[in-house]
Amino acid sequence: MARKGIILAGGTGSRLWPVTQAISKQLLPVYDKPMIYYPLSVLMLAGIREVLVINTPHEQALFQRLLGDGSQWGMELQYAAQPEPKGLAQALTIGRTFLDGQSSCLVLGDNIFHGHGLTATLRTADQRRQGATIFGYHVRDPQRYGVAEFDGDGRVVGIEEKPARPRSHHAVTGLYFYDDTAPDRAAALKPSARGELEITDLNLSYLADGALHMELLGRGAAWLDTGTPSALLQAAAFIETIEQRQGLRVGSPEEIAWESGWIDDAQLLALAEPLRASGYGEYLAGLVERGRIG
Ligand code: TTP
Repeated sequence: MARKGIILAGGTGSRLWPVTQAISKQLLPVYDKPMIYYPLSVLMLAGIREVLVINTPHEQALFQRLLGDGSQWGMELQYAAQPEPKGLAQALTIGRTFLDGQSSCLVLGDNIFHGHGLTATLRTADQRRQGATIFGYHVRDPQRYGVAEFDGDGRVVGIEEKPARPRSHHAVTGLYFYDDTAPDRAAALKPSARGELEITDLNLSYLADGALHMELLGRGAAWLDTGTPSALLQAAAFIETIEQRQGLRVGSPEEIAWESGWIDDAQLLALAEPLRASGYGEYLAGLVERGRIG
């Protein structure tokens, strides 16, 4: 059975106020496309075609206007509301009905991943049907994240949420592959001191059962933050740099759907046509002539 995806795209975005007072963070541009395109693209690269988008109740209509029902990309998108930002692990309880007993891949709506070998890494994680797979990334400031602790053999033996004294530089990224036990595990969690259902606690429940796999994303990979004005600007500059150099777009759902064979040439051209006033539309229109590069 195919794994299903969840994009958690609610939250308050308070570190970006006043920018995010009237619009959701995940709809802000990261250079040439809305932020949510990047995590959506990650799910698509993992081969996932059924996705639940979780938003704040008052912003759902905007996301639906942007992404629709997914059929334009050969996908199925559904929507659910998170009434209040009560923690990342709530995505699994909100998503329980949607998941319908399937394994899942949760990605945070403001996380950007890029780098050589990413698709292969995602496909490998997708194939592991028991337990959970999470990803570690070396960061300068681990105390802002869930931080992994390793034993002498490089096995993960603990995760601490925002520790004052981090035991490593490896932050846990916002991308999690879970087996079908995740909604039950999330429902059994108790809120933390800050009143949230912590994703770290969900991951620790897998660790306690010896069912947590941690893959390290190497230094050639990019895991970008978009939560503050500077981080958002830096992420945009990174995407611009790569795209200008390669002439290829990072995180284009249309392109991935077409490369994956979920839509054909005619469907891609029909998507490109109304966007032709922008470089993005021009790019999509040129893909058929360029041919698939895999
Ligand atoms: P955060 O960056 O931790 O929170 P935030 O986006 O609300 O921003 P800030 O800290 O500036 O107030 O959240 C990470 C991602 O998860 C982001 O895409 C928002 C989303 N999120 C939810 O959708 N629901 C939640 O309950 C939480 C905590 C986060």
